[in-house]
Amino acid sequence: MMRKIVAGNWKSNKSINESREWMSEMAVEIDNLPSNVRVMIAPPTPYLSSLADNNHPRILIASQTVSATGTGAYTGEYTAEMLVGCGVDFALIGHSERRASFGETDEIVVDKIARCMESGLGVILCCGESLKVRDAGDQNDFIATQLSSSLSNVTGVDESKFVIAYEPIWAIGTGRTASSEQAGEMHAFIRTWLTDKFGEDTSSQISILYGGSCKPSNADELFSNKDVDGGLIGGASLKVSDFCAIIKASANS
Ligand code: PGA
Repeated sequence: MMRKIVAGNWKSNKSINESREWMSEMAVEIDNLPSNVRVMIAPPTPYLSSLADNNHPRILIASQTVSATGTGAYTGEYTAEMLVGCGVDFALIGHSERRASFGETDEIVVDKIARCMESGLGVILCCGESLKVRDAGDQNDFIATQLSSSLSNVTGVDESKFVIAYEPIWAIGTGRTASSEQAGEMHAFIRTWLTDKFGEDTSSQISILYGGSCKPSNADELFSNKDVDGGLIGGASLKVSDFCAIIKASANS
């Protein structure tokens, strides 16, 4: 299993035309990028189907969220099956912005993961502590609790469709990155947690991504940690050149 992944999260940015331009530019670049990294992009939801239809086979498509429900009378929601049907490969679940602003609790995360797993949609489970938790030195306990509640109903995973993104909230969009040492320590902690939960064979194949102000200038250092398998990239994924530089950093790490 290829553990290295660089995934871009555009959040609520870009017009449809800008998205198409980005994809065309990326489709040219990607043929020159090392093939030992899985490359993924999470555009705004309204563009998913159109971008997935005209996509370079190496660029995986992710949704920034997914419904916790199945089909039925849920106005405004879209299910994991629908996303799979539109050619979407993964969904972000539990991103801190969704937890903070849209009420995505661990209980909802549990349901979303179940829907994705039933439908064969890959999961990128996001976790991360606040500055308050970090300053109190409680980050390991916090992450262990977040992971165990989010995965309380999961007994096994398909490693090719299950990814963890560690994103310290204090580093997201702030320009303040976790130090390489902080990222390395937390990723090693998460790997051990995954080994306890799923066993060594599975855990050693799960990708654990770092997210939070990762950019070309700090990617090499962050990715030099053995348990940092790539990144979930917000701001620096908006420009193809920056995103490609981060992919190269991952490939060479
Ligand atoms: P950032 O966002 O790279 O802009 O900090 C990362 C994320 O929220 O996934």
